[in-house]
Amino acid sequence: MELCIIGSGYVGLVSGACFAEVGHRVICVDNDRRKVDSLQAGKIPIFEPGLEEIVHRNVAARRLRFSDSIEDGVDQSQVVFIAVPTPPQPDGSVDLSFIEKVAREIAKVLKPGEYRVVVDKSTVPVKTGEKVTETIKRYNTGADFDVVSNPEFLREGCAVADLMKPDRIVIGGNSDRALALMKKVYEPFNAPILVTDVNSAELIKHAANSFLALKISYINAVSAICEASGADVEKVADGIGMDKRIGRHFLNASLGYGGSCFPKDIAAFIAISDQIGVPFPLLKEVQRINADQKDRFIKRIREALWVLREKRICVWGLTFKPDTDDVRCSVPIDLVNDLVKEGAIVTAYDPKGMEKARELNLVPGVKLADSALEAVDGAEALILATEWKEFACIDMEEVKRRMHTPLVFDGRNFFDPATMAGFGFTYRAIGRPVLSAKCG
Ligand code: UGA
Repeated sequence: MELCIIGSGYVGLVSGACFAEVGHRVICVDNDRRKVDSLQAGKIPIFEPGLEEIVHRNVAARRLRFSDSIEDGVDQSQVVFIAVPTPPQPDGSVDLSFIEKVAREIAKVLKPGEYRVVVDKSTVPVKTGEKVTETIKRYNTGADFDVVSNPEFLREGCAVADLMKPDRIVIGGNSDRALALMKKVYEPFNAPILVTDVNSAELIKHAANSFLALKISYINAVSAICEASGADVEKVADGIGMDKRIGRHFLNASLGYGGSCFPKDIAAFIAISDQIGVPFPLLKEVQRINADQKDRFIKRIREALWVLREKRICVWGLTFKPDTDDVRCSVPIDLVNDLVKEGAIVTAYDPKGMEKARELNLVPGVKLADSALEAVDGAEALILATEWKEFACIDMEEVKRRMHTPLVFDGRNFFDPATMAGFGFTYRAIGRPVLSAKCG
């Protein structure tokens, strides 16, 4: 099939590449000419495992191309996906101006008698599909089209795998013709398809992300009780997660969730439910627990080091999660900045996130080291903030030798406490008993 994706950001680019990979002919459109030029030159603007190969392979096979013209994309395609940003406004509600603008632009280039399915892939509030339909009709009274909602559930860091082998595909539509075409788009993926009305599909996305964030905040709240009582949150998570009704996924206690999706989507769902007149206070509690988690972690560092001013602290990890170079709304970045504000001398290292952190000036006053080992030189404490696999392979005896004081704060429960104590570290994790050095 011929497909067009408007917006070549995270979702648009990875979706476009994966659609091409299963045999569709795809045009990825973006209004940023520089981005289009660089994609045409084979440069991928984000780090996502497997993406570069798929893009290069499909461009070479002429199944994938890039353009800055919506007209070009809409003309050539039966199905037009909208994957533009839906950023948050200061009050948490969603800024839909990019979606509205694209709807007008699509309306302008739709030709009479040439039916198109317009698909909302961006994360949008319930009832956005109705607005997109109204807008297209307002700017092109003769247009022959249907609007469908098809939320995306990919995770950064494993986006290609999530797209190629999704748990489910949600298609919300009110027209049989559009639904039939959408099923054809997804046929090659062999995944379960849930067909709903447009409003339900839109709601599924916000409800899913909010539920996942709730699971994280739940275990993080339990982790605080574990710290106060001497229990181990990892054992508690295993114990409750073995109940199939609960499941172990997303019960990893941490510094808190971050990234470009959960914080924005939970705030949006709160604003949407307020607007509809059905407030959702449970989600405000989810946000509060999330913010507390980092603050409690810093309090524990302060308790151990007494005063943070002039303390040399090494932070491993800046990205909001491993296997991505994304540093947007990253809790590790907030943590580093809080430490700097208290006067700590911070050296950080991240396998993929330092370039973007430097470019965006997200960690002013922080020294960025060339390696994880260089970062620990002379440190009075080491903080593990993002659970990159690379950190599991580092010679911890060498780390201890290089540090001034063998004190480790693990913000992701990444290391094994007994092993760390065996190396001679005093080891503090989230919701786990403190283990002191057994030797050294
Ligand atoms: C999330 C959802 O998982 C995707 O299904 C969704 O498509 C995406 O948002 C989106 O809306 O576009 P993502 O933000 O890429 O994906 O990353 P996650 O793997 O969900 O992690 C989000 C945050 O939660 C990270 O900061 C991670 O460290 C944290 N987390 C995750 C925990 O603290 N504990 C856990 O058990 C799991």
